[in-house]
Amino acid sequence: MITTLSEPLSRAIEAEIAGVPAPVLRAAAAALSGAYRGKTALGAALSPPDRAAYLAVRFPSTFAVAKAVWREFERVMPPGGIRSILDVGAGPGTAALAAQDVFDSGTRYTYLERDKGWLDPAKRLAAACGLKPDVRLGALTPNTKLDPHDAVVASYALNELPQAERTAVVDALWRAAGTALVIIEPGTPKGFDVVRSAREMLLAQGAHAAAPCTHDGACPMSVDDWCHRPQRVSRSAAHRGAKQAQLGFEDEKFSFVILTRESPHRGAAARIVRKPIRNPGHVHLDLCAGDGLNRVTVARSDGPSYRDARDAAWGGTWPPYDG
Ligand SMILES: C[S@@+](CC[C@H](N)C(=O)[O-])C[C@H]1O[C@@H](n2cnc3c(N)ncnc32)[C@H](O)[C@@H]1O
Repeated sequence: MITTLSEPLSRAIEAEIAGVPAPVLRAAAAALSGAYRGKTALGAALSPPDRAAYLAVRFPSTFAVAKAVWREFERVMPPGGIRSILDVGAGPGTAALAAQDVFDSGTRYTYLERDKGWLDPAKRLAAACGLKPDVRLGALTPNTKLDPHDAVVASYALNELPQAERTAVVDALWRAAGTALVIIEPGTPKGFDVVRSAREMLLAQGAHAAAPCTHDGACPMSVDDWCHRPQRVSRSAAHRGAKQAQLGFEDEKFSFVILTRESPHRGAAARIVRKPIRNPGHVHLDLCAGDGLNRVTVARSDGPSYRDARDAAWGGTWPPYDG
């Protein structure tokens, strides 16, 4: 499913980037892309053009990913259980704004962000979407005291922490999470490593891996492989301009895990961990399940499951959630 920002959110983003000249925005977008691919480093506090570039070219992708993750959350957790969400490393509040599209309007939001320059834009974007989050300036460290919330989300943030601090920070996030901790990272080996380590550590403390995993066993991905999937994102004119891109969409690859205190309603036995291979008369699906990684082949002679397999998507469940 392709994700497009709502009209009020798009307009609020356009207003944030309006004052930045196009060449400056393009240069900042290029620097941001370099940093995202690990080629250059950005400081702990972004400059105003960096923040505008983030809103133009990264926000639509991280928003779309966070929304896809919250939709997964809705499928595996009982409805109505999330009344408060803490978004750490919130930046412009992306994960909270995406949650607001999925959860009840009564949900309360807290943002924690170390870059002071994000606080006002985050408040303006939230206001445009009818949200009034408690926006706090603060750095997440092993000693940070976090107020309890039903759900805690760290979206594209944990990879920015020094490796030596990450374990203690994940522990602190889990202690603050009454119902669930959601971790989202780039769909790269490094991003998945953050996800896999947090999963392994918290499963040992009694957590459940509610999604994308369909089991609480050891992750069967080999050390040189990584669990990730694409999310299709619609590119606005501002997004295309800042990136000098022609296509009206892009695919953002991400890794994630939803860790819960209660047993989730998984509703499916396996997760499709690679792009399905469709051949005439049969489809190969690479699945992750409790018994490890397996390739299954679904043939036309398998009847209705063949139809499901032809429609199956990388990242979906097998059988499909609604199947
Ligand atoms: C790549 S941005 C992600 C922003 C947003 N969560 C999203 O998904 O679009 C990472 C954010 O985490 C923040 N961050 C990184 N380390 C942090 C820390 N130790 N404490 C608080 N915020 C942190 C950065 O300042 C930045 O705003």
